[in-house]
Amino acid sequence: MTDQTITSVSREHRKFRPSAEFKAQANLGSDAAYKRLYAESVNSPEKFWGRQAKEFLSWRKPFKRVLDWKLPHAKWFGGGQLNVAENCLDRHLGTARENKAALIFEGEPGDVRTLTYKQLHREVCRFAAALARLGLVKGDRVAIYMPMVPEAVVAMLACARLGAVHTVIFGGFSSESIKDRVNDCKAKLIITADGGWRRGKIVELKANVDRAVVNTPSVEHVIVLRRTGQLVEMTEGRDRWWHEFVAGVPAEHAAKAFDSEHPLFILYTSGSTGKPKGVLHTTAGYLLGVTMTTKHVFDLKETDVYFCTADIGWVTGHSYVVYGPLANGATVFMYEGAPNHPEPDRFWEMIDRHGVTIFYTAPTAIRAFMRWGDDYVKRHSLKSLRLLGSVGEPINPEAWMWYHNLIGKKRCPIVDTWWQTETGAIMVSPLPGITPTKPGSCTRPYFGVVPVILDEKGVAVPKGSGGRLFLAKPWPSMLRTLWGDDDRFKKQYWTELEGYYFAGDGARFDEDGYLWVVGRIDDVLNVSGHRIGTAEVESALVSHPAVAEAATVGRPDALKGHALVCFVTLKNGSLASPELKEALRAHVAKEIGALARPDDVRFAAGLPKTRSGKIMRRILKEIAGGGDVKGDITTLEDFSVVAALQSEE
Ligand code: PRX
Repeated sequence: MTDQTITSVSREHRKFRPSAEFKAQANLGSDAAYKRLYAESVNSPEKFWGRQAKEFLSWRKPFKRVLDWKLPHAKWFGGGQLNVAENCLDRHLGTARENKAALIFEGEPGDVRTLTYKQLHREVCRFAAALARLGLVKGDRVAIYMPMVPEAVVAMLACARLGAVHTVIFGGFSSESIKDRVNDCKAKLIITADGGWRRGKIVELKANVDRAVVNTPSVEHVIVLRRTGQLVEMTEGRDRWWHEFVAGVPAEHAAKAFDSEHPLFILYTSGSTGKPKGVLHTTAGYLLGVTMTTKHVFDLKETDVYFCTADIGWVTGHSYVVYGPLANGATVFMYEGAPNHPEPDRFWEMIDRHGVTIFYTAPTAIRAFMRWGDDYVKRHSLKSLRLLGSVGEPINPEAWMWYHNLIGKKRCPIVDTWWQTETGAIMVSPLPGITPTKPGSCTRPYFGVVPVILDEKGVAVPKGSGGRLFLAKPWPSMLRTLWGDDDRFKKQYWTELEGYYFAGDGARFDEDGYLWVVGRIDDVLNVSGHRIGTAEVESALVSHPAVAEAATVGRPDALKGHALVCFVTLKNGSLASPELKEALRAHVAKEIGALARPDDVRFAAGLPKTRSGKIMRRILKEIAGGGDVKGDITTLEDFSVVAALQSEE
């Protein structure tokens, strides 16, 4: 960790109070109510969570205990049984929600489909029944590698209905990444599509799966949705078309109930070593966390049309496209493609056309909208919007103000939500109608969340000073372990400070006790809102035959948050050239996915190392950022290496 990463330079003092109008209709309408419930949630957590779990979830068998906490392993709602798909679908049937739109889908080419709760329930039952016929049982792992289409949601919910554990792999990942993830969790089945639409082109999902499954011995079947209609290869005996697979299968499936702690999904996320971490979430606690936060943070109403722009391949897509909104009986708007296709006003045009009321996106997207220009926004009224959200990285005050003025027309509260794949649900966020907001701050903790900021010795830092962010209490939607690697789980999150969850972020509290998260302090970068482990990029680079050694650092980037800058030394016999640079960028994109394509590759004769051989990333960061090399360099083995790197700029 370096000092720079936790020194906050923000001097933001603007404050925005909720309007009386919004406040009057808010689900949680008074600061006193928030404070009372928050105090109860941290002082009597078992009483608080026990009550909420009864109120928000439908149980088949009531739980007996609220929490068994054997640090760092939590078991929530022991003795209880439920079914997540039933909570998201069946319980809305026979109510006024039955014929309400669950999903309004728009494909990139412009095709629109609406599925009511009843229709979505039928599709999920049919698919679950077909999967059961195939032999899929409770606990089996299923990889889902799909475009943003309703069938992706059907696939997730069908797995949940059967007690199968899904791992959704973002459609931008490469076949290498699919292979690693599938092998790590030994998935039996992959659900994919012939392709998906992105910026007018087809994303070759099936072809990527085909390349991956050559090296995934656990995979028995591949189910392929016909989305684009393009020709793909089908392997006899292994591959089945979705429509043929479900043909003639009755849309009936009696859901079984599962224990509260039954695994629901594994989601791989970057850590500071090369291997992605399989974050495991389980049934009841996760569902409670996402259901409550969706209702409270987004002030969800029966009449809302809710649009979260995240892909289901990320945790935001799991928690706030699928499980949280559907458990609440919301109408979810889902879009397949790129925000600038055919024009950079696609989102605004769709918001007007579908009457979207709640819009949840990422700062990197907001910065792209700003760059594309205000005119694209001004063509549309956006009058249906009433609430805006932000997630994925710190939102810079300039982007916040633009979002507030141009999209929210000064009338929509902005909820800047801090959370992580590991936390499952939103941890820190304004509550709309209650919390005055400050551009760039995620403000105050949600119920049960106790954020603390500590220095390297584990001592709380004074208000206004930066430090490392920890969470002091267990919460229902917390990750339970890392799949197949409980030691890494303990080491990564629970050993920095005994008894506290280590978030890996730098943060500070301001004079009002508002939280300002400034970013990651481990070797993980935030590129366009996606966590990318520098070690992953480095291991991809050294797998190229020309590369001897590689180091990757982030350079601040106005649009992406961080740009990836890679320093490489070449093996004897390999020559630096612009072609090799391009080849290395393409190689990383092939190994990990286009989202990790380096912005810059620099060749070096050597990398700056300490005498013990550790690469001094701080120095590389300074060089990548174009600045002087400052600070202590007495441990540097050979300064000429730095001089050579600087002269290369
Ligand atoms: O650094 C924080 C940043 O994103 C990290 C979590 O990334 P991931 O697990 O991919 O989940 C992203 C979606 C929840 C955090 O450790 N981050 C996320 N939201 C915010 C944020 N940083 C500042 N403000 C936020 N609102």
